[in-house]
Parts: sequence; structure tokens; C-alpha cells
Amino acid sequence: MSRKNLNIGLFGFGVVGHGLYEVLQKTPGLQATIKNICVKDKDKKRQIGPENFTYDKNDILNDPDINVIVELIDDADAAYEIVSAALKKGKAVVSANKKMVAEHFQELLQLQRENNVPLLYEAAACASMPIIRNLEEYYDNDLLESIEGIVNGSTNYILTKTFAENLSYDAALKQAQDLGFAESNPILDTGGFDAKYKLQILLAHSFGYIAKPEELYNIGIDGIGDLELKYAKEKGLKIKLVAQAFKGAEGSISAFVIPKFVGPEDRLYHVDDVFNGVITKTSFADTHFFVGRGAGAYPTASAVLSDISALSYDYRYEYKKIFRSENQSLTDDVTLKVLLRHTRENADALKLYFDTVEESYTNNNIGYVTGNISLTNLKKVQDANTGDRSFILLNIVTEKEAAQQVAAAVAN
Ligand SMILES: NC(=O)c1ccc[n+]([C@@H]2O[C@H](COP(=O)([O-])OP(=O)(O)OC[C@H]3O[C@@H](n4cnc5c(N)ncnc54)[C@H](OP(=O)(O)O)[C@@H]3O)[C@@H](O)[C@H]2O)c1
Repeated sequence: MSRKNLNIGLFGFGVVGHGLYEVLQKTPGLQATIKNICVKDKDKKRQIGPENFTYDKNDILNDPDINVIVELIDDADAAYEIVSAALKKGKAVVSANKKMVAEHFQELLQLQRENNVPLLYEAAACASMPIIRNLEEYYDNDLLESIEGIVNGSTNYILTKTFAENLSYDAALKQAQDLGFAESNPILDTGGFDAKYKLQILLAHSFGYIAKPEELYNIGIDGIGDLELKYAKEKGLKIKLVAQAFKGAEGSISAFVIPKFVGPEDRLYHVDDVFNGVITKTSFADTHFFVGRGAGAYPTASAVLSDISALSYDYRYEYKKIFRSENQSLTDDVTLKVLLRHTRENADALKLYFDTVEESYTNNNIGYVTGNISLTNLKKVQDANTGDRSFILLNIVTEKEAAQQVAAAVAN
């Protein structure tokens, strides 16, 4: 099959945009040229001459010679305007913007179909790790049972530094920002929102279920305190921000982002720094493990490059699972074994939300409970005004285990 010539209109020349510019210089085999670059700040110093830039998006969108738009800006609303306009004009699009894709998944799907043009966004989930195309192509069947992983490079970097080097949370966040891993607005990373947007995209490509981002529950790493870090260190565990989605009975799906304790036997324990790791579980193949750099200029640019290359062969996502899937719904009817850190005065009230309590400890003004709690009750505790608290997941409890543990607790 012969490759198409691609004339690229690039939006954004920050960490990833500049990375892509350099990566493209080094891959002459790909017949792709950047014809024009749109940025925002007229006064910013650039590494290449002003003749390469425009500040008016229409210079690119209305250029008939440009057949591919690569959108690498840090503003999800402006990105949606650019991407939707490009698709309406029949231009293929590559984007790395997970917030934009997650918030407008349904509309973007519609625009691709109506205008018969592709939108690819491999870099939007797990940066350099080729997960979306694998979910779309390899797991093109009903056998995928679960997907679980570290999908945010900056929080993994921060957690790694706080564990391995005893760096303070603020110092580790500053390092992640200086290295270009972190989102411009850090709460997107540390609050678990970036991971949630990625989970929403992975969920659509895993099970064909399009969730609205607000339907997926997310707890970030910004509430993690010294007690949880000490608990982890004493037990030889690490804390990772884990996004997961798994199938339950009768078309039900659970999906959420919650920090999790992981031990050395868990593959995610060994995924450190800016790396991402995703474990898929299928009915017959058991598990697969993907690992790769989850942020940074060149790794992210490499996924964008792969999408550009795929466009040159007319590749597009077919979204077969979305069009096939019926009667699926999200459920909070799932039991989680967690550690809840709380203040002393809230201890007794908070225990009432648990199905079973395994361990309970208080010292001075602070304490923790471990035990089983439903996702429904966890949300109630997290969203209500229940003092300073944080949840860390220990593991998911199967229905059978949950019933046995309740029966044992009643018998005692
Ligand atoms: N950094 C990573 O490791 C990474 C990893 C995966 C995905 N991503 C995603 O990649 C995208 C870009 O991230 P980044 O880290 O490269 O961001 P960045 O370094 O902050 O750069 C953002 C760029 O967007 C431009 N821009 C902002 N609003 C614009 C507008 N309305 N029109 C035209 N240009 C506009 C800025 O212009 P000025 O230069 O004029 O300010 C800047 O060049 C984001 O969606 C991010 O989530 C990033």
C-alpha cells in the first residue's frame, strides 16, 4: 500500500509540539511536513523562526493544502473548537488532549462518522504506550474482563520520589513540572482527573461503553498523608494511583480511579517514575502487561508520530465494540477493601459505613480503619463533610469473598 503525503497544520508548540517538530525532522521516511504552526503567545521566544508560526487558527483550518491537523494545545475548550472545525472541513486529526476527547467523546464520534474523517488520539492515554490501538484491534472481542493501570506519569513520578527519595510532595510536584511531565494545571494530575479522562477513553475502547467523565469516580493523590506513607513503608508496599475498569454480572461495569497499596508481587509495584503500566485480563489469555513512558516530549511525540504514520495508510478507529455493545451500565455495587485514615472524633461514625472492619487504630488525634466498604458508601464518606480523611485501596473483594467475610464477622 502506498503512503499518502501529509501536509500538517500543527496547533501548539510546547513540550509535545516542539518534541513532534524534532521527531519529524528525524523520520524522513514518513512523507509528512509541517506547513504551518498555530500558537497563542506572540511575545514568546521560539526555537525556530517566526515565519513558521501563525496566531490565527483559520490560517490553518482554511488552508486547502493542509490535510492533517495535529492538535497539541493545553486548553481543552479551544482544542474542541479546533478539532470539531477541522473534522467538519474534512481534515483528519491527531490529538493528545485526553480532557477534550473524554468530555466530547460522543460528539467527536458523530463528527467522524458524519464527515467520514478519522480522529486518532493514541498519545491521549498513556503517552508513548500503544494501548488504544491494541484495545481497538487486538482485543476486538468480548473476552476482555478488566483493565487496570497506572495511567498518569506525573503522579507516578511524584509518588516514586516521595517513597524512594523521601522528597516532599511539593518538591516532587515542582520537579515533575520542571521536567515537562505535569499538566499546566497541576490539580488535573494530582486530583486524579487526568487519570479519569484516560480511563474514560480506555473504557470506550475496552468495552465499548461511553461514560461521561463525571460518572467515573476519582480520588487523586493530593489527600495522601504521612500515616498512609508510613503504613505502606512498614508493610513493604508502595502507593500507586490506579485507574481500573472491570466487568461484573449482566453487563455491569465498575470503573474508578483510586490510590492503591501495591506489593512487590504486583506488576504495578515495579512501574516507577514517569512510566505507565497497564494490565489487561482476558478470559483465555490470562493477563497481558503493557509498560512505557507516560509523559515527556519525545515519548508523547512518538505516539503522535505513530498516529500520523497510521493516517498515511488511512487507518481509523472503527469503534466496533461501541456499535456492538448493548445493555451495559456502570455500577457502584462493588466491594472494596480499603484503608481509611480519619480524625479521632469521626472514627465511630465512619466505621458505620463499612460492611466489615478488619483493623482499627487511633493514636492522639488520628487513626485508620481497614475493611470492606461498598463504592456507594465510599463516595458518601468522601463527598460528605467527614473531617480530614483519605482512602487507599487494598484490593477489590469478589462477591463471594464479601459474603463470607460478612458471615464471619456476624459469627464473631
Ligand atoms: N507533556 C506531556 O508529557 C504530555 C503527555 C501526554 C499528553 N499531553 C497532552 O498534550 C497536549 C499538549 O501538552 P504540552 O505539555 O505540550 O503543553 P504545553 O507545553 O503547555 O504547550 C501548550 C501549547 O499550546 C499552545 N496553545 C494554547 N492555547 C492555544 C490556542 N488557543 N491556540 C493555539 N495554541 C495554543 C501554547 O501556545 P504558546 O506557546 O503561545 O503559549 C503552547 O505552545 C495537552 O493536551 C496534554 O494533555 C502532554
